[in-house]
Amino acid sequence: MRKNIVAGNWKMNNDLEASKLLIKNLLNEFPSKLDNTKRIIVAPTFVNLIPIVEMTKNTAIEVAAQNMHFAQSGAFTGEISASMLKGIGVNIVILGHSERRSMFNETDEILVKKVESALQNKMEIIFCFGEMLEERKAGNHFKVVEDQIKKALFNLNESDWKQIILAYEPVWAIGTGETASPDQAQEMHAFIRKIIAKKYSQELSNDVSILYGGSMKASNAKELLSNPDVDGGLIGGAALNADEFSAIIKSI
Ligand code: 13P
Repeated sequence: MRKNIVAGNWKMNNDLEASKLLIKNLLNEFPSKLDNTKRIIVAPTFVNLIPIVEMTKNTAIEVAAQNMHFAQSGAFTGEISASMLKGIGVNIVILGHSERRSMFNETDEILVKKVESALQNKMEIIFCFGEMLEERKAGNHFKVVEDQIKKALFNLNESDWKQIILAYEPVWAIGTGETASPDQAQEMHAFIRKIIAKKYSQELSNDVSILYGGSMKASNAKELLSNPDVDGGLIGGAALNADEFSAIIKSI
């Protein structure tokens, strides 16, 4: 069965001290493990992964990386591989974030390789996708999302999908304060489930967690998360504040 997940993408925020303080405050709120229908994930920057993995061992909080390279090792200055992440106890990676697609030229072709590497290394993937404002205005949002999912994920075997968490993040809602309405989110999530059911099976489609991301905060989380096909959130700005993030977690 799919799980309810609240994941915080810290992006390039929080130095070591701030990262530890945020985790300390979250652990005060969530001192014991949650029931097994719910998950809390945080994605600090690479340099702070090791101490956060240490702090969160045997707690309710799981740790993800924000990106990785597709190669196992080699002459890729400044990059980090799946096996290196696994080696420090990080078993989850965010791939395909719109900031990486738009600012770091991450293409569908690169994402295919990254997904393959993460799966081979038995990592879970939070796979992000979403349309830009012009694409929505032109009525192309379903097609854009379908293409992004198809290109990176529809070559996978049914069993690979156990390692996939989807995150619909309309680009126009990221960091803008503008959120997709609960109806817009539900409509897209239901569409995603429909195309997965068509390609694979109804069962698989029912089992995939689909998160919404884009200006989700404590004040709008309940409404967004009450939709039947919205299984959680991928949170940016509001994940940097322990009270905000905790309130969102309590909404799942
Ligand atoms: P905001 O919550 O800051 O809009 O960011 C969403 C996001 O990009 C999470 O990956």
